[in-house]
Formats: sequence, structure tokens, C-alpha cells
Amino acid sequence: MSHLIGLISASNTLPTLYHQIEQLDAFGFRGVVALHGGQDGLSETSVAGLPAGIVDAIGDTPTNRVLLRLDWGDPAQHAMRVCRDLIGVVMRGSLQNSTSLANRLQSLGYTADAKNPTELISALIHWYHRTQRDLTRATQSAVQELVGLFAISVIERDNPGEIVVATSGIPILIASHQNGFAFSDQLSPLLPFARDLIRLIPGEVASITPTQVQIIDASGSPTRRNPEPISPRNERAALDRFGHFMGKEIHEQPALLADTLTRNGLTPSLAELLGDEGARLLANIDAVVIVASGSSYHAALTARYWLEGVAGLPTSVELASEYRYLDGVVPNNTLAIGVSQSGETADTLAALRHAEYLGASVTLGVSNVRDSKLMQLAKLQLANEVGPEIAVTSTKTFTAQLLSMYQLSLGLAQQRGRLTGAALEEATRLLSLLPRAALGVLALEPVLDQWAQRLARSTHLFCVGRHSNYPIAREGALKMQEVAYLHAEGHPGGELKHGPLALVDADLPVVACLPWNPLAEKLLANLQEVRARHGELFVLSDAGLAAADRLNVARMPEDLRELNPILYAIALQLLAYRIAVCKGNEIDAPRHLAKAFATEQ
Ligand code: F6R
Repeated sequence: MSHLIGLISASNTLPTLYHQIEQLDAFGFRGVVALHGGQDGLSETSVAGLPAGIVDAIGDTPTNRVLLRLDWGDPAQHAMRVCRDLIGVVMRGSLQNSTSLANRLQSLGYTADAKNPTELISALIHWYHRTQRDLTRATQSAVQELVGLFAISVIERDNPGEIVVATSGIPILIASHQNGFAFSDQLSPLLPFARDLIRLIPGEVASITPTQVQIIDASGSPTRRNPEPISPRNERAALDRFGHFMGKEIHEQPALLADTLTRNGLTPSLAELLGDEGARLLANIDAVVIVASGSSYHAALTARYWLEGVAGLPTSVELASEYRYLDGVVPNNTLAIGVSQSGETADTLAALRHAEYLGASVTLGVSNVRDSKLMQLAKLQLANEVGPEIAVTSTKTFTAQLLSMYQLSLGLAQQRGRLTGAALEEATRLLSLLPRAALGVLALEPVLDQWAQRLARSTHLFCVGRHSNYPIAREGALKMQEVAYLHAEGHPGGELKHGPLALVDADLPVVACLPWNPLAEKLLANLQEVRARHGELFVLSDAGLAAADRLNVARMPEDLRELNPILYAIALQLLAYRIAVCKGNEIDAPRHLAKAFATEQ
């Protein structure tokens, strides 16, 4: 999780910045990168530790503009770049066309690493700036060439009175303060002092000076936007336009996926993901056992398809609360993985210890919290770090687990010589498409809201899927239970005929995850059985299916093959959320549930 923040003032902006940072300490960010300065040169600073550390790092030399990126994890060095001492960029997000852009920039004489989008963007803006001599125009020209999900902030050494910002989909909010302007991708950092704000629309570029904001649209034409007032500065205001943290956290996912892909790289090696020691320890493993609970168990069930199908490793997935008491057998050279968003679930900790006791040769913790008990217990750590999840119902931490375990599978596959050439290129291509595809799923909210109004009247529901979407159907059903208070069950389509079909009638709707892949026809046949029993179907599919009586269809973004579970998970989260809202349920703290179970119950 990260925030982009920037400030510009008529005079020294540091007092306002330091005031703002004091407020932000409470949010628990550890990594800070900062870019500031003017005609004497642009200064890059990066600090690990609370944002207050930035005060020591920047010092007290007056400056009238600062660009920051705060991270919940380590400082995002890759997110800040100065090109040829002239153009400085701080960004969030990722690019889809990095490779072609890097080739083009190299042919123009720039250092351009396809793995470093900030380097590419700063070089491209520098290139346009050579001829256009106007930072806003140069940024706008560069943005036309960028494909991806990003928000950028840009400064030029020789024009200390300006910051330029642009977005392709990650929010940029610009707020006035007493002496100038501030911007951020979230409302919360602006709350301490902002009076009103302007929202940039994807494709727009804004020039911010201490006295005004000028916006140009995607076609380069100036556009006017009246600032909107900020609602009362209470805790709920940090929710911005969202009524609940669950909704906000669902909507954060595309940007978080993009940030993770840039931080880790698209297809990182095991050494890049887990360090040299991690790569060495995993060089000789022959099998995997994963222990987890609840949603994390569903993430683990999904990961099994990747660990077996991509990395070729026999994998078993165990419910932690049962496995800890199993008189089990662990084969030689087994990697035991504990998956837990909080890293504090007592059953998962005990199950990982049990796997080690049974003979697992290496342990790995996968968690959102780097210094959690799970991460301390495991020999190796894979941290997701998508920031605090306030809603009890997990959403962004779930998709973060999926992405990190997919990347782990790719790393293992590369190490085992199972992923080379065309297959590696295809995995890279699909991963680069993921953030925008996730954004495409969120665009289905109005359709899912219509479904929700109908489903809110039901008391029972099935979610179905096949292959790696079967665990996602189970996860969707869990979301329906915990926040929508529906009796929901997740089934593999092929299992309906072995029992569950007996329950299907006009009062039991079925939500289906139907990516158009080789198993689609089979799932369609399963769904015909539901229709024959008058069950109403709600089908999520990338295929252009026609809606009909008792057949509702929502068109999913393009097929991302192995990554489809991430997209379908987001759709089901959104549906469960909308149903819960329709029913007037308590969203962020559902009845009888807690965020983490640190003791056995
Ligand atoms: C559901 C949910 C729970 C947790 C489970 C395990 O939305 O969040 O099912 O997944 O309690 O918690 P962690 O992942 O922290 O071990």
C-alpha cells in the first residue's frame, strides 16, 4: 500500500509538509521516498522508518515543492527517478507496454530498463520536453504513449514553481491549502488542512502552481473543474466517496496489484522474491504442503493449481485447525507454507509448526504483516504489504495473497526449468494486463448492484466454478455468508450432480464463474441442469453470452487464463458487498466475526 503526496507553496512548504507528516505517522507507513529542489538540482531522499524520519532526511533547507511516496513496506526506490538531472518523477502503478517503450527509448539514447516504469516515464517526458519546452505538454505527450494503470507526479529542475500530475486510473485529488496546493491519491493525507478538492479524470494532466491548477484533457484541450467542498473532517471522511471500508478496500485492488507488479517485477526469479538464501533453500524441494484458515485457505487452494500446473510440484492444502492434530506424513524435501493475512491466526501458526515437526525441510510465511508471528516463525518470508485492512471481511489481502503465490509458482517454475521462452513471455504479458483488467471488473458494479437487489431477497445461494475458479466460488460463498448473511455454498460445477442439485429450485439462485476456457462447455452443461430445475443463473463470463429469462449475464474483462481467479474473486467480493448494502447489514464489522483469531477456539 502506498500514497502519492505532493505539496507546492509560494514560500517554504516544509512546515506544512511536516505538519502533514505528523498526522500520517498514525497510518503506520515505514518507507518514504521524496523528491524536491529547484535550479540548484533535484534531490532524491529515501528513508526507512516512520514518515517522521523524512524530517531528518530532507532537513530544513527551504523548498517550495516536494513530491513524496509513502509505503507500508520498504521505501519504493523504483518509484522515484530523475532523468538527466532535469526531469524528476514519483509514481504509483505499472505499465503494460514497458518492453516496447524501453526499446524505443534505448534507440533514442536513453538508459531504459523495461522493469523500471519510473525510469521509462521520466525519460519519455524528458524526450518530449527537449522540443516542447513545457512540462505539462511534455507530460501529456508522454502519457499518450503509456498503457497501464498509474498516477504520476513530475517536476522540472528549471521551473521550481510547478508540479505536474497525471493519471490513467489511480485517483489524483488536488486540494488547496492556505499557502498553495497539495495533491494525493487518497483523501486521508489531505484532510489535515484541505478545504476543497479537484479530482482528475483518467487521461487528464494538471499543472499545479502555488496559485492555480490548470487541467488539460486527453486531447490536449484546457478543461475547467470547480473544486468540490470536503465533507466534515471526521474519521469517516477518510472513506472519501465510499460508504464503507469494505467498498474502499475492494476498489483499492487494481492499484495495489499494479504496485506489487512493479515492486516485485512481473515474473521475478526466486532470488528476487525470497533472496539468494531463499532460492538456495528451495532448490531441492520435491513437494509442498500449505496450511491456512478461512479465506487464506481458499487462496491456498487456488495456489495449488499454480504450484502443480506451473511449477510441477505435488501440493496438498490443509485446513490449519485440523492439520495441527493430524497424524500426518510429510514427504522428504517438502516446503511447508503458512498463509495468513494477519500472520497471527493461532491454528495456522500451530499447523506450520506441526508440518515442521512432521519433517518439512523448509517453512515459508505468506502474510500481509511483515513482522507478524507467522513471519517470525517461518524460515522464509513473502510479504504482501497491501496496507491495513480495516473491514473484517478480507478483500485486498486475499487478492494480494493470490498474486504473490502466483509469482512464487512462476519463480519455482523458472528455477525448475519449467518456464522458459514463450511461456515466460506469455505469463509476463498476462500479468501486465492484470491491473487494468481488475479495474474492468470494478466497472461492473452497476450490473452487480442490480443483481444484488434481486439476490438480497434470497436466503440460499450457490456459487460454482471449475478448476482454479472452484476455490474462488468457495471464497465467494464465504463472502456471502459473512457479510451478506446468506446461506451460501461454493461447489465445483461437476459436483452439483452428486448431491447439491437436489436443493436447486426457483428459490435457489446460482452464481457462476465462467471464463471461456476449455472447461467452459462442461460448466455450461452443469448450469443447464440448474436451469432445468428452474434455478435462476447469474453468470460472470468474458464470453458474449446473451441474457435470457432467469439467465443474467455480466461481461467480465478479457480472459487472463491462470490469473482469472483474481478477477472473479473481485467480482464476487463486489457482489457480496452490494448484497450486504442492499440488506442494510453492518458491513465493516459483521456479526460474530473478528479480524484475527490469535487464540484457539
Ligand atoms: C474472511 C476472513 C477469514 C480469515 C481467517 C484467517 O473474510 O478474513 O476467513 O481469512 O480468519 O485469517 P488469517 O488469514 O489472518 O489467518
